Amino acid sequence: MSKTLVIGASGQIGQLITKTLVETEEDARALVRDKSKLDHLEDSDLEIVEADLEGDFSHAFDGIDNVIFVAGSGGSTGADKTLLIDLWAAKKAVDYAKAANVKQFIMVSSIGADDPEAIESDIKPYLVAKHMADQYLMASGVPFTIVRPGPLTNEKGQGKITIKRPNSREEMAIPRADVAKSVLFILSKDDLNGKIFELFGGTYDVDNVLV
Ligand SMILES: NC(=O)c1ccc[n+]([C@@H]2O[C@H](COP(=O)([O-])OP(=O)(O)OC[C@H]3O[C@@H](n4cnc5c(N)ncnc54)[C@H](OP(=O)(O)O)[C@@H]3O)[C@@H](O)[C@H]2O)c1
Repeated sequence: MSKTLVIGASGQIGQLITKTLVETEEDARALVRDKSKLDHLEDSDLEIVEADLEGDFSHAFDGIDNVIFVAGSGGSTGADKTLLIDLWAAKKAVDYAKAANVKQFIMVSSIGADDPEAIESDIKPYLVAKHMADQYLMASGVPFTIVRPGPLTNEKGQGKITIKRPNSREEMAIPRADVAKSVLFILSKDDLNGKIFELFGGTYDVDNVLV
């Protein structure tokens, strides 16, 4: 059985992904900076590694086949953390994945990361960081799939998405649960390497559009 490392496993999408991996009895390792955030999973087979993404976390990659990078600095921190987590920690994760000969690296990026010049907004530095992290992964030689969700919501997941960019920002929103479901679907496939998907709330089953 292959083993999956979830980086950012204590985050909102990260927790949804990790919980499902535990429930479906997948071999998984969660990387978190504060173990207590996964207390509810302590009786499970989940392996938890504590590490700060601002330091060396290469040890978390021992024996890992698949990586899901779902960490992020969050909206309440400044440009320093955007640089250190969304860009630099993602870059380090790619380097560690390459050294560990990882077979699949799924990056949770963001809508707008394809072309940060296209919008004038406060989040441009964040989009630049995501853009450069995505570019680094794409050039690394590590087998990758990148997802770029629209604005995240905590609404109930519908299991329905679209990958066609809607015209209005309102229509671009997607529940975190549906991003988690999409990432887990990609994890289950071995023919989506090299693909980049924008993800929005929609009307199509995940397995019908992520091809
Ligand atoms: N918000 C949006 O609308 C939007 C849209 C598109 C894409 N995204 C991207 O989607 C991804 C996931 O979103 P989310 O809502 O699930 O994010 P989240 O809840 O903020 O989770 C972020 C994760 O990153 C971890 N992290 C941050 N700094 C760390 C550090 N120094 N060391 C170890 N872990 C660290 C956090 O750990 P702690 O739990 O310890 O804080 C947490 O597990 C992010 O990459 C985000 O940029 C967001």
